[in-house]
Amino acid sequence: MSGAMFGGDEVGALVLDIGSATTRFGFAGEDTPKSVFPSVVGLAPSHHAASQDSVPMDTSDRDLPSGTAGGAARRSRKSYVGTTTLAVVRSNVDLAGVMQNGLVEDWERFELLADYGFATGLRVDAAQHPLLMIEPSWNPRESREHMTELFFEKYNVPAFYLARSAVASAFANGRPTGLVLDIGASLSSAVPVVDGFVMPKSIMTSSVGGDFLLSQCAQYLEKNQIVIRPSYMVASKQAVALNAAPKWTPRTFAEPISDSFHRYSKQLVLQDFVHSVLFCSGRTFDRDSVANLPAASFEFPDGLNISLGADRYRLAETLFDPETHADATAPAVSVSSRASSASAMDATSDGTKDPAGGLAAPKPIGLHRLATAAINSCDVDVRPSIGSSVIVVGGGSLVRGLPERLDAELRMALPAISKLKTVASGLSVERMFSSWIGGSILASLGSFQQMWMSKQEYEESGKAYIEKKCV
Ligand SMILES: Nc1ncnc2c1ncn2[C@@H]1O[C@H](COP(=O)(O)OP(=O)(O)OP(=O)(O)O)[C@@H](O)[C@H]1O
Ligand SMILES: [Mg+2]
Repeated sequence: MSGAMFGGDEVGALVLDIGSATTRFGFAGEDTPKSVFPSVVGLAPSHHAASQDSVPMDTSDRDLPSGTAGGAARRSRKSYVGTTTLAVVRSNVDLAGVMQNGLVEDWERFELLADYGFATGLRVDAAQHPLLMIEPSWNPRESREHMTELFFEKYNVPAFYLARSAVASAFANGRPTGLVLDIGASLSSAVPVVDGFVMPKSIMTSSVGGDFLLSQCAQYLEKNQIVIRPSYMVASKQAVALNAAPKWTPRTFAEPISDSFHRYSKQLVLQDFVHSVLFCSGRTFDRDSVANLPAASFEFPDGLNISLGADRYRLAETLFDPETHADATAPAVSVSSRASSASAMDATSDGTKDPAGGLAAPKPIGLHRLATAAINSCDVDVRPSIGSSVIVVGGGSLVRGLPERLDAELRMALPAISKLKTVASGLSVERMFSSWIGGSILASLGSFQQMWMSKQEYEESGKAYIEKKCV
């Protein structure tokens, strides 16, 4: 039972994990999050009062009045959250995510995701449930305190806890010590965890990840004169031969479609492309070595069919060797992470945690180099135990062949670690949701119940007390 005792009643705790691509929300003690939805919020322009709606609306997901933090102007804006709601064609709605460089950047949209999660995703009263929130492993004090204040003050939760993402993932894999290599959407991170604690000075991040792959694929398609026409644009299509010009008829709309809606819809096609086409070759890519490996075909929403041979491996190679294979001019295409419009390769920092506690814009660093740098930055005596559990998690790790290739690269890069082991769950949900699952296990342990920060502690000691409760 995942409960804690509050007012004599045992109530189930909730676990909330807001990533740059998806939000995962559910009940502690369960195997997977009950509600998973894009971390994207659409906002109507401020002159659209909550009761007005000039475009056809979906009614299956809840449309919510905008949250509290953004002030009066924003409060009157209608908001759109949830997979089905976001898929409805709309003019004039601004779709955007909440994170930038691995940290929450837009608190108003963050609240709207939480509002939606409580009201529609789980249909629970927040005031009745302790909440364990998964936070980025490098979450700075200011952001931790803001989260604490928000959940106690706005949602009135009876108890709150912040769990570092990497610690939760390590926990989900039953390994209190190891290197958590999380290949997410907006970035990848290598976070050493020792006995359940993050080694903050050794956290390394790279811009290589899911969004990076989307940008690379977008650039590849553009260079091959392939125009992405998302499904919403297509009224009908006919079957055509491989590589033949598509035969499709466009849908017409009374009002112009917002740029962000178009970008979001394109992002979904690109995601589908990445998930179904890309493949990591077993060793360093060269065109000859992959010449005999299988090709993959892909059909776009307008009916165009293409087949990719070597390029499906070359595009995946950008995860390991961005210096050689990535296109430095690839534009950012994801709306879910609030990446600057500058190219993914323009970042100037060294990709590590900055001393202020946040993250500077990470640089593209190959995954095995990222993991190696993080391990080598730890004390010599803990390197063997960290290297014996390189825990691979995050949606980006689902590119086929990735764990095997990573294992081969790490063995070459770290010959001194004789017991090197790459741990990657064979179940994709376990890798996708590892931090949520770790939080779910943690919050349901009997021994954890004394760890919560209670509402009373918050009222007596204030938001800064979170630093003492959740180290
Ligand atoms: N089968 C798949 N193959 C390749 N990539 C995938 C697959 N499934 C999901 N992804 C990618 O994984 C990414 C999402 O991963 P994840 O859910 O770990 O990110 P997040 O936690 O929301 O973001 P972040 O960690 O950057 O804050 C997306 O970029 C998505 O395209
Ligand atoms: Mg993540």
